[in-house]
Amino acid sequence: MNILVTAGPTREFIDPVRFISNRSSGKMGYAVARAALMRGHKVVLVSGPVSLQAPDGLAVVRVVSAAEMQSAVEAGVDGCDALVMAAAVSDWRPARVHANKLKKRSAPATLDLEPVPDILMGLASRKGGRIFVGFAAETENLLDEARAKLNSKNLDMIVANDVSRTDAGFEVDNNAVTFIPAHGEAMALPLMSKDDVAERLVKWIEARRK
Ligand code: C5P
Repeated sequence: MNILVTAGPTREFIDPVRFISNRSSGKMGYAVARAALMRGHKVVLVSGPVSLQAPDGLAVVRVVSAAEMQSAVEAGVDGCDALVMAAAVSDWRPARVHANKLKKRSAPATLDLEPVPDILMGLASRKGGRIFVGFAAETENLLDEARAKLNSKNLDMIVANDVSRTDAGFEVDNNAVTFIPAHGEAMALPLMSKDDVAERLVKWIEARRK
């Protein structure tokens, strides 16, 4: 299969030196890319700014902003059989990007934000027979919030991720997730390495494809 994976955060600049971002380390998405590669798939990894080494043998497209990630995903989606959106795409960005560094003395009292277009939602008409998997990082109402995203983004599965835990989720090597498929029972997995979560996810995609 050709598998397109996104990983890491995006950065939304306020001025040339300051940005809004989030705690995503990219570890989960990189683990998915590695697992897919190890299981014999062709992988394109669209990566936000992270400090991880990409595995040999895959194409890496490096992006910074959500808009760049959207362009890279749109360029790759037609050629993929499965898309795994593990990236923590910014939900908002500054409405205005200043061309020069803002002076401390003239700092704006407020920062106007605008919503970032949803990459997955924008792909609905191009989904066809492709398998789309999303991730939902939540701190409360995990399963309800994840299910709402599964439906609104027209996904085949969402991986629900409780990021309020300190032993799993953001930045660490382990994850405790629930696989929620569009059809079928939710599967709560015990705490395990992100590599093991990734292998299970790739196997789920393979089984779904058959
Ligand atoms: O940010 P949110 O919780 O809605 O993210 C859920 C899923 O949607 C993730 O898989 C994420 O990569 C994707 N997403 C997206 N475009 C955005 C925000 C999130 O495709 N602008």
